Amino acid sequence: MTALTAFSRVRRHLPPYLALTGKLAGRGAVEQAARASRVELSDGRFALDFGSYAVTLLGHRPPAVVEAVRRQLDTMPTSTRSLVSPATAAAAAAVVEYLGGRLSRVYFGLGGADAVEAVIKLAWLASGRRRIVAVEGAFHGKSLGALSLTHNQRFRAGLVDVLAPVVHVAAGDPDAVAREVAKGDVAALVFEPVQGENGVQELDPDVLRTWCAAAAEHGTFVVADEIQCGLRRCGDRSVALAAGLPVDAVLLGKPLGGGVVPLSAAVCNERLYAPLVADPMVHTATFSGHPLACAALPAALESIELLAGRGRTIARVFGAGLAQIHTARPDLVRAVRGRGLLWGLELPSPHITGRLIVGLAQAGLIVSPCMSRSTTLRLLPPLVADDSDLSEALQILAAVVGTFTTTGGS
Ligand SMILES: Cc1ncc(COP(=O)(O)O)c(C=O)c1O
Repeated sequence: MTALTAFSRVRRHLPPYLALTGKLAGRGAVEQAARASRVELSDGRFALDFGSYAVTLLGHRPPAVVEAVRRQLDTMPTSTRSLVSPATAAAAAAVVEYLGGRLSRVYFGLGGADAVEAVIKLAWLASGRRRIVAVEGAFHGKSLGALSLTHNQRFRAGLVDVLAPVVHVAAGDPDAVAREVAKGDVAALVFEPVQGENGVQELDPDVLRTWCAAAAEHGTFVVADEIQCGLRRCGDRSVALAAGLPVDAVLLGKPLGGGVVPLSAAVCNERLYAPLVADPMVHTATFSGHPLACAALPAALESIELLAGRGRTIARVFGAGLAQIHTARPDLVRAVRGRGLLWGLELPSPHITGRLIVGLAQAGLIVSPCMSRSTTLRLLPPLVADDSDLSEALQILAAVVGTFTTTGGS
């Protein structure tokens, strides 16, 4: 009954397509509760969550984060914004320290696109320039500024005339950024060190190094969008900083609130953040630095670090398991790409990818599609996956992939 009501309300009040896909994936059930790697459905079944669009890096309801948020909820969940919130201050200090301290200023948002919007505006104001260089295949969100950087034509269609001036360069072209910044009008270069929504594609660190050097030479800011690949999703706290790239900002989001509350951050150096030091009103939002969200951050970072070693084991075991599945069905799984806890299976068509995602969910393994590459199925094991979660996930994958026919159902 609860499930039927939920589907009918989604059909009436939200994009109806969500009811269709959700109903298929849940075989008529809806999500009801969750803990660690597992989601309980309304019909009593459980599914392993290796999806959730990269939010549940710590699994569902990580105890230390829930406890920290609960403490804030019981004391002061919202801020006067006239007085200082210690929770917001502590979160800013924690994320700066987590990234090593060189990037010492923080703007907090809720979703990832908030952080993208903030750095676009800061780069424009700090440089006085307007053009931005992004990368082909990039995904940075869908609010208008962020959408300007997102490359996918499907999301830009009908809006191109209202988007900011952005040029997208080929990911493999080491000279592309030098050509653009030499014109002297580029405010920022923005890239994802690992493009998650573009089918899990890692950008070549040597190309990135060349790009960063060209940007620095011409006074162009460099921003690493690690909303998906950072926070040890791909092994490192920050992929760009670990590679020694001289970036002016790192953007974080998704699991930054521990998978419990929405939270994102643009962690910037002094030069990029200067407009906000000069005038704190140039970029504000009622819920920026919200204490309830910020309370989660120190606990989330601490929990991520405690599990970093486990993450390396999961990456090794999971990567090896996916390689076996690839070997068993090369006609279906055309390629396996990934790093750490972010993996993509390349499939023959968007239709097959959709059917496989539904088939896996129905068999008890939730995975995610890729927003900008509909032929890639994305797998996001959480840091809390234990050995039995991992082997069960690989078994489900092997069974569903093994019996999958490219013409009919699975
Ligand atoms: C790299 C990257 N940047 C930005 C975003 C946008 O984040 P949000 O959907 O929370 O606005 C995403 C979302 O998938 C992302 O993967």
